[in-house]
Amino acid sequence: MPTEKEILEVLKKVKDPELNRSLVDLGMIRKVEIQDGKVRVTVALTIAGCPMKKRIAEDVKQAVAEVPGVEEVEVELTTMTPEEREKIFGKKKVEEKKALKDIQHIVAVASGKGGVGKTTVAVNLAVALAKKGYKVGILDADIYGPNVHILMGLEGERPFSRDQKLIPVERWGIKVMSFGFLAPEGQPIIWRGPLVHRALSELAEVVDWGVLDFLIIDLPPGTGDAPLTVAQVFPLRGVVVVTTPQKISVADVARSINMFQELGTRIMGIIENMSYFKTVGPDGKEQTIPVFGEGGGEKLARDLRVPLLGKVPLDPNLSKSGEVGKPAALDPESETGKIFAEIADKVVEKALEFEKLGSCGLKKA
Ligand SMILES: Nc1ncnc2c1ncn2[C@@H]1O[C@H](COP(=O)(O)OP(=O)(O)OP(=O)(O)O)[C@@H](O)[C@H]1O
Ligand SMILES: [Mg+2]
Repeated sequence: MPTEKEILEVLKKVKDPELNRSLVDLGMIRKVEIQDGKVRVTVALTIAGCPMKKRIAEDVKQAVAEVPGVEEVEVELTTMTPEEREKIFGKKKVEEKKALKDIQHIVAVASGKGGVGKTTVAVNLAVALAKKGYKVGILDADIYGPNVHILMGLEGERPFSRDQKLIPVERWGIKVMSFGFLAPEGQPIIWRGPLVHRALSELAEVVDWGVLDFLIIDLPPGTGDAPLTVAQVFPLRGVVVVTTPQKISVADVARSINMFQELGTRIMGIIENMSYFKTVGPDGKEQTIPVFGEGGGEKLARDLRVPLLGKVPLDPNLSKSGEVGKPAALDPESETGKIFAEIADKVVEKALEFEKLGSCGLKKA
């Protein structure tokens, strides 16, 4: 006769398809009953309408059926209590953060490594979304080296306050909030972990974004305190991960993706930046040069099982436009503008898909 220990052992390998964590670790296996060769497993779903319930039940059935001596497997689905859910996911953020209640989709832009063009992508994505008519805000959560305000041409500006709230600075119809507005110019900001958490949590409460379709959050690189806090404090609809072909290190990107998934945040996809360079060859024909190699983004997306949302070329206009504070995507007819418009479409599609999917109790974002 199979033992409970054997059953739990195989169930440890069954993961929640969305959270990418074992059902056992998530506390979802409520009961295992064994009678001769008959096994009945009770799985507590994080919410009743979990869209993944069929798959979870099938995965459990399949895994248990492989234990020697098991002849029949029955899976009963039930739902976690709010207390059980809270134990795993922490308090629901949406309810806590009243200030964010009028924002439809909050999308963070992350990367495994620094200097891959996160901020450039975040700013141009925000602009491309605004060009399509969405109400957009952008939050610079890079407390160590905030520069969204510079790329948006807002250096030296300050947000003003009203009724104890900070009012974002507006440019090109986009609401902008950056730690760069709050820190003295040119002075390095040294933050310790708990301060980072507090500063970002306060910022989530104190900024009056009003009604937005999209809030784009530019993160500092990696998996440090700031990206972690953002994922904990903001009800993220999803995360866009930026990478470059030459810096593609699956391990770095995977670490970043894992962190978000563990916190119950979905990954919208990968954007490969500085993908190629377009020029005109000696024959007068357009040439595409893969300066830093080819196929890295596709491979990474395949390996990590996330979509590739787009490839942004190495474009001197992109860096120049950053320096003069006029994002390239402001011209939707330019080559790069068109690419960002396409990426924006994919982000909208993903945001709506994730919204519809709801969440298996992660966040009611
Ligand atoms: N596609 C591109 N073509 C040309 N230059 C680019 C491109 N993407 C980014 N850059 C330039 O590369 C530099 C780094 O970009 P950016 O600041 O956006 O990176 P980041 O990932 O946000 O960096 P950090 O990790 O420091 O926050 C900038 O000078 C930017 O103008
Ligand atoms: Mg940056």
